[in-house]
Amino acid sequence: MGRIAYVNGQFVRHGEAVVHIEDRGYQLADAVYEVWALFDGKLADAEGHFARLERSLSELRIPMPMSRAALTIVLREAVRRNRISEGLLYLQVGRGVAPRGHAFPDQPVPPAVVITVSAVDRATSEAKAAKGVKVITTPENRWGRCDIKTVGLLPNALAKQAAKERGAAEAWFVDDLGFVTEGASSNAWIIDADGVLRTRDTNANILRGVTRRTLLDVLRDEGMKVEERPFTPAEAAAAKEAFITGAGSLVLPVVAVDDTPIGNGEVGPVAMKLRRLYIERARATAV
Ligand code: PDD
Repeated sequence: MGRIAYVNGQFVRHGEAVVHIEDRGYQLADAVYEVWALFDGKLADAEGHFARLERSLSELRIPMPMSRAALTIVLREAVRRNRISEGLLYLQVGRGVAPRGHAFPDQPVPPAVVITVSAVDRATSEAKAAKGVKVITTPENRWGRCDIKTVGLLPNALAKQAAKERGAAEAWFVDDLGFVTEGASSNAWIIDADGVLRTRDTNANILRGVTRRTLLDVLRDEGMKVEERPFTPAEAAAAKEAFITGAGSLVLPVVAVDDTPIGNGEVGPVAMKLRRLYIERARATAV
């Protein structure tokens, strides 16, 4: 973790960074967040993450804490102070501090803002990608507004822990219709038996992944066949390849679902190629 955090207007030492006990993000998960991948110290897919932040806040009627231009300056300053070039930037914006109560405070309070920056060892990530990861499936038990990127992540945290305990890196939620929605912290993809790239459509109860969006652009430019159409765990098990996307995982090959190997159980060529193409684009367009 970087040595410097930003908390409500100030850069402070990470170990001394604190929030108020009546921060509504802490008590009620009344807060949203964004995670940017950092390439060469720059924000990847910046526009997509800012747009989603603004949308998440507006859905919860929390004002932007400052203009997008000012926020960009603060985010960059957080990266600079931590001297991190390859990593992740976490931004949380909450409704603010008020005596505990479910309804919004009568008098609006300033939004609470926290930023942390952490380093990622790209060599370790590449080694992980080259090996591929396992996923498990778990019944969907989240609320109906997963399109809002809130910090209310308890089901995601429990699913991720269950995955970890079974030697997997991710858990895929499966809805009442028997279709995969998305991962606990990533979007889910397969290359089906017909060679079609498939991922859940954004009318479903999923987060509109920014990495997912950029990868769709990559696929279009490559002229690859893609359908935003649901798939079942059985279709994933019978798929040629599978992978997950997210600011943390980028494009990460999946080699087994619930211990059933996908394809020959090894990382597929398409997923690896898409990882490379995504990273090239994200690095080239980072700001
Ligand atoms: N997670 N779905 C969920 C539930 C997520 O939490 C994330 C990201 C994604 C992928 O979204 P994006 O491509 O915009 O990162 C999909 C972040 C990285 C996290 O919670 O750390």
